[in-house]
Amino acid sequence: MIRFSENHPLKSYNTFGVEALARYFFEFTEPEDLDTFVNANESWKELPLFVLGGGSNVLFLDKFEGLVLHPNLPGIGKVREDRQNVWLEAGAGEVWDDFVKYCVGFNLGGVENLSLIPGRVGAAPVQNIGAYGQEVSEVIELVRGYDLQKKEQVQFSNAACRFGYRDSLFKRELKNRVIITSVVFRLEKFPEFRLNYGQVEEKVKALGEINLHNIRQAVIDIRTSKLPDVNELGNAGSFFKNPVVDSVMAEKIRDIYADAPIYPAGEGYSKLAAGWLIERSGLKGYRSGNVGVHEKQALVLVNYGGAAGREIYDLSEKVKQLVFEKFGVELEMEVNLAGINNYL
Ligand code: EPU
Repeated sequence: MIRFSENHPLKSYNTFGVEALARYFFEFTEPEDLDTFVNANESWKELPLFVLGGGSNVLFLDKFEGLVLHPNLPGIGKVREDRQNVWLEAGAGEVWDDFVKYCVGFNLGGVENLSLIPGRVGAAPVQNIGAYGQEVSEVIELVRGYDLQKKEQVQFSNAACRFGYRDSLFKRELKNRVIITSVVFRLEKFPEFRLNYGQVEEKVKALGEINLHNIRQAVIDIRTSKLPDVNELGNAGSFFKNPVVDSVMAEKIRDIYADAPIYPAGEGYSKLAAGWLIERSGLKGYRSGNVGVHEKQALVLVNYGGAAGREIYDLSEKVKQLVFEKFGVELEMEVNLAGINNYL
């Protein structure tokens, strides 16, 4: 199915819940629809593009004067199976957490710690979603997509995706060129459980037996206790990435603040917790008009209702500035900006 419209409202397509319009909006349900589209009309090539999945990692600043592509490709199916693994392929339009639920329901491990992450399957490889000690790149076998330049279907092995922390080729060189249509995951029949992040182990044990179902439930409980529900309070999860700095700088911070959370990030580098930096800059729970810094997790910016994208952006600039003044650390956005041409 293909749906094409002009001046399409995007409020219900972004979890911040901000008002914005897409000049052109193209929704499709089959990989072949992209063929039909690019061959039917060459004029799209002149337009800025934005690929919109669940809208859980985007901030619209203004009307998007271009073409929004919304892949709505459904389906979860088994590709193959051996003694250890089951390979499942999921359409880019499947809701990510429905896929996690499906895997846990069939006792397949590898994505349970990624429970309740908002968004669609197609976005998971783009920013290599991660939580509670698991990253999706660990279970991705293959990413299928459509290359708008070559006008053909393409596929990428795990190595070809060049995954990093919240990063992949799809965010860089292939941005707006390859539209992900489905992802093949290699799941474990006898998984090793990941319990060593924060309160996960303690919560799982409180629920009873250590199994996939209880890990999923523990992660859901932790997330719902800290992260605001997008249906109640507009947000896009972590607004910034956790910054990677050289270890000398991290040690300087630790010398002053003995409780600073610091994680290893490869030889000579350390990762700091952006939420902690923001909290220690005095901004946790800060509110200005319709927007604010969440009171339980300072890495999350929220729309208390009726905020314009610009207000959220301005708040993020203030957060960046105050963290830089206090710690000399530059925060980098995790969310994608769209509709920026009219604003920045
Ligand atoms: N912290 C504070 N104050 C805060 C928030 C956090 O001091 O307001 C401290 C915590 O006490 C902890 C550390 O910072 O010592 C890390 O906090 P947390 O475990 O909550 O995780 P995070 O680093 O803030 C990351 C991901 C989340 C993911 C969690 C759990 C990024 C940018 N964010 O957050 O992902 O759910 O770990 O694994 O890596 C997302 O990407 O949208 C997202 C929610």
